[in-house]
Amino acid sequence: MLDTAIRNAEIVTAADRYRADIGIRDGRIVSIAEDVGPATEEIDAAGLLVLPGGIDAHVHLEQPQGGDVVMADGFESGTRSAAAGGNTTVLPFALQKKGQSLRDAVQAYHAAAEGKCYTDTSFHIIITDPTPQVLGQELPALVRDGYTSFKVFMTYDDMVLNDAQLIDVFDVARREKAMVMVHAEGYDAIRYMARRLEEAGKTAPYYHAESRPQSVEREATHRAISHAELTDVPICIVHVSGRDPMEQIQWARRRGMNVWAETCPQYIALTADDLKGLNMDFDGAKYVCSPPPRDLDSQAAIWEGLRDGTFDIFSSDHCPFRFEDSHGKDVEGARTSFRWVPNGIPGIEARMPILFSEGVSKGRITLERFVELTATNPAKLFGMYPRKGTIAVGADADLTVWDATREVTMSQELHHHDCDYTPYEGMAITGWPVRTILRGRTIFAEGEITGAPGQGVYLERGTSRAFG
Ligand code: URP
Ligand code: ZN
Ligand code: ZN
Ligand code: ZN
Repeated sequence: MLDTAIRNAEIVTAADRYRADIGIRDGRIVSIAEDVGPATEEIDAAGLLVLPGGIDAHVHLEQPQGGDVVMADGFESGTRSAAAGGNTTVLPFALQKKGQSLRDAVQAYHAAAEGKCYTDTSFHIIITDPTPQVLGQELPALVRDGYTSFKVFMTYDDMVLNDAQLIDVFDVARREKAMVMVHAEGYDAIRYMARRLEEAGKTAPYYHAESRPQSVEREATHRAISHAELTDVPICIVHVSGRDPMEQIQWARRRGMNVWAETCPQYIALTADDLKGLNMDFDGAKYVCSPPPRDLDSQAAIWEGLRDGTFDIFSSDHCPFRFEDSHGKDVEGARTSFRWVPNGIPGIEARMPILFSEGVSKGRITLERFVELTATNPAKLFGMYPRKGTIAVGADADLTVWDATREVTMSQELHHHDCDYTPYEGMAITGWPVRTILRGRTIFAEGEITGAPGQGVYLERGTSRAFG
């Protein structure tokens, strides 16, 4: 006897699309057949798609970002919002504070997440202080414990690594077989631009975009790729915003390099013009993220890359700050420049609907490619495949039941996050998640959360498929 049977499903994986029933026992898929036999719980998926549960591989939760502004979502509201957006696994970051041991950093995030998560989770480690102790002892030990990915930053005052430090981290990643995610924007170039804009009195949120043009991202992407070539390690360039950095990635691949790439909803659904707000006012702060959204030509380039394989994964970069905090807390005097707007926007719940609607419903990408970008490749890249990221016998029963024809207007009211806005307000969406199933248990159905905090488990991950 099965625990659950999903009947009449149109199953979609990265490779196939076919009609079958799915049998679930003890949280795993135990059969896929024309008829899987009797079950305690019946789910009728007639007329709906059944996809692997979404895996959002780039999420910031409860992560301090300079000053005293607190992120809008912690592990409870962030994973709740993820579940409502069709996701079953999210990969947030554990940020190392300067001077902190990596073990302490990771423990702090475990303490924050404990008992709170609606979805499964696993942490990437942000390395801000690569001391000899961190590089020589702490990182190797943590990789062996299943923390098999890091993120490094080439910008931001409190996180930037210089070239020597990047090379040192890449070298450890090669030896330990860890996947390094690279935030590629050039620190010095941004500081120069920000100073010049501020001196000219150009301080509105819109100038955030002008302070970090594509050349800044292109240069850093090239530099990261060159260091990866030198150290002979695969890397993943994250949140790629447009044509210039894409060309660097394509160039590297033509040279045979093992470079992976991520893009995000903001680069297909927003442009820098959104940062102008209403007449260059602070409303534009709702769209401040880094790299910034670009223009329509960049959006077209991103679509080419989503189609032709330049991009491997599509993540939200969910990094939610309340609009009321967008001035940077102490609003008095100095803190009115774009430089003090916390960088990041919410998107964990909107990620899959936006890619489905703009991609699949509008005929730009196939359903199989949608699954590959949102679940299968994230699982492969971050050492969770095939337990996660596909629909197969033996895999976790992580599924999202999708209504490809449902028409919805994106709005803050529909969201389950704790942010006070969505940058995608008013967007017309065709295709919507109607049920999310985590290891056999329905955690979200028809707009309502049915799971409970603490049902998500922490995943110790294996080696990235990027290492073969
Ligand atoms: O603006 C962004 N993306 N903030 C989040 C931090 C990061 O760089 O991913
Ligand atoms: Zn980043
Ligand atoms: Zn991010
Ligand atoms: Zn609800």
